[in-house]
Amino acid sequence: MEEFTGTVGVFDSGIGGLTVLKECAALLPRSRFYYLGDNDNAPYGSKPKEEIRRLVRAALNRFSALRIDAAVLACNTATAVCADELRKEFSFPVVGMEPAVRPAAQNCKRALVLCTPQTAASERLHALAGRFPQCEFAVHGCPDLARAVERCGGSYEKINLNEHLPAGNFDGVVLGCTHYIFLKERICAHYGVPVYDGNAGTARRLSAVLAEKSGGATTLSGVYGFADHCEENANLCSEICRKTGGNGVKTGVFFLGSAKNYNKIRYKQMFANKNEGNCHKNP
Ligand code: DGL
Repeated sequence: MEEFTGTVGVFDSGIGGLTVLKECAALLPRSRFYYLGDNDNAPYGSKPKEEIRRLVRAALNRFSALRIDAAVLACNTATAVCADELRKEFSFPVVGMEPAVRPAAQNCKRALVLCTPQTAASERLHALAGRFPQCEFAVHGCPDLARAVERCGGSYEKINLNEHLPAGNFDGVVLGCTHYIFLKERICAHYGVPVYDGNAGTARRLSAVLAEKSGGATTLSGVYGFADHCEENANLCSEICRKTGGNGVKTGVFFLGSAKNYNKIRYKQMFANKNEGNCHKNP
């Protein structure tokens, strides 16, 4: 019998976290994922910290009511602004995003980090970059790029990168915002250098956290059964794939929130895009 590997809440301000969800769902096919995008309030990147904290806290509260085993903040901005603080408030582990500065530093002398203004201003990012003095990091906060990705209705090719990306010579680019991953191929072509993102690392971290939490036994929340979440099942969830894993629980990906259908469509679109994922480097 296939063993159920836990229930995970994945959160982002909007569609960016779908790219992280894809990676996590591929690595953990026997888990159940709830995806919550706060698309109504996106983008977060230039909002005041206090507001970001309040919105992320609300999302984690919602996950808490679903008795998740772990949450993923599939948002660099949320991670940079409030992950450490919110970890203290919730009983489940919270896995955050870490820009792929380390692999970039191993391969580059001068790398560009593209991220939101709040991430660019964060101590967290600068402390991380400071651990790799062998590479010079040029950090650039893009004021409107996440909004362009969020609002383009899936027509990512229509975004004019020249309006958003800084000029310069770099030998690598780090994507420090999950929304930008939809533009990875194009950013790679724009600069003609490798592009690094932290999605695979986040998925691996989630896998380790779930393994640690279960302690090798079937103690994850699936033992309570899907019926515990019937409110979500009936009203809030929009499931994309659903199968019965070990313990008779439903595994797959379920979308929550007012933008659930929009996010589901964008998620499916990613699988239809054959070129997606060719050019980047995942740590
Ligand atoms: N996708 C998020 C990030 O990784 C947030 C983008 C935004 O809402 O500004 O930073």
